[in-house]
Amino acid sequence: MKKDVIIACDFPSKNDVMDFLDLFGKEKPFVKIGMELFYAEGPDIVRQIKKKGHKIFLDLKLHDIPNTVERAMRSLSLLDVDMVNLHTSGTVKMMQAALKGLTREDGTRPLLIGVTQLTSINDQELSEELMINGTMDEVVINYAKLALTAGIDGVVCSPLEAEKVKNACGASFIAVTPGIRFKDSKKDDQARITTPYDASKMGCDYIVVGRPITQADDPVAAYRRCVHEFVYGKETE
Ligand code: C5P
Repeated sequence: MKKDVIIACDFPSKNDVMDFLDLFGKEKPFVKIGMELFYAEGPDIVRQIKKKGHKIFLDLKLHDIPNTVERAMRSLSLLDVDMVNLHTSGTVKMMQAALKGLTREDGTRPLLIGVTQLTSINDQELSEELMINGTMDEVVINYAKLALTAGIDGVVCSPLEAEKVKNACGASFIAVTPGIRFKDSKKDDQARITTPYDASKMGCDYIVVGRPITQADDPVAAYRRCVHEFVYGKETE
């Protein structure tokens, strides 16, 4: 599978995201639409961005009883997005229901990716609040294996976990990885960061990059730099 860079379009309104995408002209990067924009603008924002020619990762992280997730995924499949996600902690049964709902009448469907443990959760919260036994690594790998059992396509993880996920679930199991920063960019609120070049070497399939592109002086140049490092495996200074 071809590696790709997904731009996290974390904008509050349609105008903001459209102005941003217009900067790219004929170039049509793969974009991620999250809850902020989707809840503000509704499903029509997805149709409009799709119409402009972009691939879309719709990041709504579904988590509910299997029947509800199946029906919600059916609605999302009609939006013609390219990738959607859910929480693997919803169980194998829920993920299988999601796959069923997502599969269109002609047999095609968007890629389905699972969230393992959110990176905002620390070890203490995992054991003391959530009462989950096992280390973070063990929990992430367990969730990835459940995702594989359910037949979904891959998981969201840190580039630093990608190799372990691939070892446990196979090379073709997709690793979608946020937490990306250039050597010379700000860390913002990301704690464990990797450059696009290193993410490429670590075997990630997709990197999700937000602020290093959206808040760059020249977003198009920043996007191209990501592609150069990640897709073509060329280090930049
Ligand atoms: O701006 P930045 O590059 O940090 O954006 C990363 C994107 O990836 C954001 O949309 C964020 O919500 C998302 N994300 C993340 N860590 C996860 C899952 C998703 O940063 N574990």
